[in-house]
Amino acid sequence: MEDFILNLPKAELHLHIEGTLEPTLLFEIAKRNGIEIPFKSVEELQAAYSFDCLQDFLDIYYQGANVLLKEQDFYDLTHSYLEKCAAQNVRHTEIMFDPQTHTERGVSFETVITGIAKAQKDAQDKLGVSSLLIMSYLRHLSEASAFETLEQSLPFKELITAVGLDSSEKGNPPSKFQRVFKASVSVGYIPLAHAGEEGDADYIWEALELLNIKRIDHGNNSLQDSKLVAEIIKRDIALTVCPLSNTALKVVDDLRNHPLKTMMNKGLKVTVNSDDPAYFGGQINKNFSAIQKALALTKEDLYELAKNSFQYALLSPDRKTTFLTELEAYYTKNK
Ligand code: HPA
Ligand code: ZN
Repeated sequence: MEDFILNLPKAELHLHIEGTLEPTLLFEIAKRNGIEIPFKSVEELQAAYSFDCLQDFLDIYYQGANVLLKEQDFYDLTHSYLEKCAAQNVRHTEIMFDPQTHTERGVSFETVITGIAKAQKDAQDKLGVSSLLIMSYLRHLSEASAFETLEQSLPFKELITAVGLDSSEKGNPPSKFQRVFKASVSVGYIPLAHAGEEGDADYIWEALELLNIKRIDHGNNSLQDSKLVAEIIKRDIALTVCPLSNTALKVVDDLRNHPLKTMMNKGLKVTVNSDDPAYFGGQINKNFSAIQKALALTKEDLYELAKNSFQYALLSPDRKTTFLTELEAYYTKNK
């Protein structure tokens, strides 16, 4: 099963680039930028990665991102993640980045996106890993700040495919961002959002009806409401589920109680993703194998999950077909 998962062609659809900052790289970048961090060693830092809720994690995650200052830092961060994609047979990835995490600290939008985009191009050329970018608005910040970010993104519009919504969910409902999402769509960005991770089903309703999102990040709490499940299926929208993130942030108490298989049985389109792999204990393949073991998933289940990852990627029908053909050949040979 491990080999089947390792070699399974797949796409990652829920990944925060800032959440891929491994402790060793964090220390290396901090050192070269002359930034003091309140941890003496990689081990001490890792010991701080113990969370009771989303906010506990976000506090550490934003602190970690403070070391990123220069274009080279964003290049190294992204390149390191894309190398891991190549090693795990992630053929395509849709990378979220949080510009406000950096612009709030005085790092320019251009510095962030140029570093990321150069690494994307190199990964496509040298590693054969395809990727695109999702610009995520931080929902704990104001609508005005999101509008400012949209404005800053316009000179780099060709590098951005979609907009997302992340950070502290409770108390920051999708309705707060209805206008900025409308404006984002009008410039050509596809609307996506985190919803129903800690927030209730009504936040998912809002994300669908007010933001008109095309994919739901997490969406665990959709199971609270059978009408909502029916609506998600009717709209043919996928959920980007993150098993190890869910247990790390106590969204799910034990992987054996994870709702992924229930979601699949109800007809929801689900994908498996790592979210913030440096903080939650594993890359995408570790998420696949952990959830496979916990829920006794079959090869057919894993095939369906990988199929969804290409089917619900933000790619042209032609590119999806290319990946799906490769996946089907793999499954036929290895099932
Ligand atoms: N939820 C909300 N915001 C985030 C996450 C997440 O899982 N990861 C990074 N920012
Ligand atoms: Zn996320």
